[in-house]
Amino acid sequence: MSVGGYPQDVMENAFDYGHGPHVHRIHVEQVEDKMLGPVHDVRLLLRSSVIGRLPPLPMHVTHYGLGLFRTEVDLPALRVSVLIWICAVPTAGARMTLRTAITTTIGNHDSPVRRAAAHLVSLAAMPLFFMALSQDAGIWNHHRLVSPPRLAQGDGPIGPFRRWAEQFYPTQPETAPVEDRS
Ligand SMILES: [Fe+2]
Repeated sequence: MSVGGYPQDVMENAFDYGHGPHVHRIHVEQVEDKMLGPVHDVRLLLRSSVIGRLPPLPMHVTHYGLGLFRTEVDLPALRVSVLIWICAVPTAGARMTLRTAITTTIGNHDSPVRRAAAHLVSLAAMPLFFMALSQDAGIWNHHRLVSPPRLAQGDGPIGPFRRWAEQFYPTQPETAPVEDRS
């Protein structure tokens, strides 16, 4: 899908905890954050009104640079694991193309009821993912550059993420090659 914005917007979305309750009706709590060169590895706990009284769901987010986003969400109660990949490629102007993949893994169940519930969750994973992506795209398609950027309380650790992301941008402005007139 083609949307407005830059690949960094997709990655940064995982750390913009402030938008979760308002846009996706989820609450995210950070458990662990590791920055290993070009790889950024984060463990989160996800709470949502959709899952009701279930314990928070473990979520594992990995950024491979600014172009490849991997996230895995586990539902231990149903032995379901959802794995999502997003590959973001910048295209013309302030737009990008997102290529996505989603898989679900269901563990063994003795109970037919739990097995059926696990399959229902598995079937719901893709439409829920695309709904969340569409909600974010609605923002990316209309956002404007504000420099310097302003952060609000509860936005999450966007500052450290942006400092990590700086390694993927040139430190000097690119200059045109000098023409050889000899
Ligand atoms: Fe989002």
